[in-house]
Amino acid sequence: MAERETWATRAGFILAAIGSAVGLGNIWRFPFQTAENGGAAFLVVYLVAVLLIGIPALLAEFVIGRRANINAIEAFSKLNRPQWAFIGALGVVGSFWTLSYYSVVGGWVIRFIYATGTGAAFAAPGEYFGTVASGTGAVALHALFMLLTIVIVAFGIERGIELATRLMVPSIVVLLVGLAVYTVTLPGAAGGYDFFLTPDFGAIVANAGTVIPAATGQALFSLSVGFSVMITYASYLGADDNLGADGLTIAVSNAFVGVLAGLVVLPLLFVGGIVPGTESFPAGGGAGAVFIALPTALADLPGPLGQVVGVVFFGTVLIAALSSSISLLEAVVSYLVDNYELPRAPTALGLGSVIFVLGIPSALSLGWLDWFDGIAVTLFLPFAVLLVVLFVGWVMGQEAVDEIRQGTGGVGSLPVVWLWALRTVVLLGIVVVVALNLNDLFLTPNSGYYIVPGPLR
Ligand code: PFF
Repeated sequence: MAERETWATRAGFILAAIGSAVGLGNIWRFPFQTAENGGAAFLVVYLVAVLLIGIPALLAEFVIGRRANINAIEAFSKLNRPQWAFIGALGVVGSFWTLSYYSVVGGWVIRFIYATGTGAAFAAPGEYFGTVASGTGAVALHALFMLLTIVIVAFGIERGIELATRLMVPSIVVLLVGLAVYTVTLPGAAGGYDFFLTPDFGAIVANAGTVIPAATGQALFSLSVGFSVMITYASYLGADDNLGADGLTIAVSNAFVGVLAGLVVLPLLFVGGIVPGTESFPAGGGAGAVFIALPTALADLPGPLGQVVGVVFFGTVLIAALSSSISLLEAVVSYLVDNYELPRAPTALGLGSVIFVLGIPSALSLGWLDWFDGIAVTLFLPFAVLLVVLFVGWVMGQEAVDEIRQGTGGVGSLPVVWLWALRTVVLLGIVVVVALNLNDLFLTPNSGYYIVPGPLR
């Protein structure tokens, strides 16, 4: 068997993992989830979920991946517990599923680079989004986005993913900071800061049943856990990396970019007169929020400034989206490459094509896109995380502690605290989230996911 690839540098791994975490989840999904779930209250629960569930679960995936040094499905046999391989398989299926609609949104981003650059999106942003979000044009751009993803993955770990994310991640941060600073200067932005940053704790308690699962789902999605991706990325690591420190760096950077995106998008919504919870907010959910808000706000800028800012913004989002989509495809490709010794490039192309087909319904209707996203984030993801936590906490146990200690140079009893957190608080938290989600999915009529796709538009 050919020698397995590894990351060239530790920074390469960290940047690739940040690249996976930072994506449409932060810039497209996080702002509209925040807008739909009460603003600052959602932000608070999200941050708590990152700390209490997200980070421990991320480390759990790292432990599986690095200890096994093989793709997420075979990892479990390598750890002498082949009967648990279905966990890795569930994650890989989740990746496959998620990439199908993620790529459709990626296609919208490509469209909006063009549509803000030419100013086409500025005259009637809501109508413009409605026209381009679904249909043959959306299918074509979904195909283009998938193709870009395939090309990067085809180049492999070191020359493809590592090189690409090294360039991408720093530019995302620089560009978002620039936009956030610029947003402060716009009239009307204050309402957005208030909405995003002043929590109403009464509202958290009153809506706990929906806000908690939504915020936890967002936290996990955003950290790229639950889809075998972080298991896969950690499998290309050497034994001398400090998993805890790397995990923390990744999680903090990811939350930072999410909050930064919120600081750009939510005030801009208010600048454009789009207020969550009122009629001005796009009907039927917020999938269009960013795509409508940005052009609405930018249209008022003098001269070509709005066009320039629009291209910079959506260009940044495209970079972030690609550094995540490649990780979703890599999780699936690595299994076939490792296991069947298939050549990387044709495998990426073949799988990417099947995923493209699966995404066609989402490119034809917003209702289907919403449904695919709902199933991914409320069903696949928390369930897979639950199993990972159970496996690492209770099945691996001490072995996981030994693994996480490697490369740390001594961190006292922290690994043991982590293990016990996994076994208790984290496990309990995720069980509650799964239960709330199942209730919403199968027992709540009109929840949008009740057994079959919700209201299709
Ligand atoms: N974390 C990515 C984002 O926030 O856009 C999406 C994602 C990538 C989720 C990879 C899961 C994953 F495995």
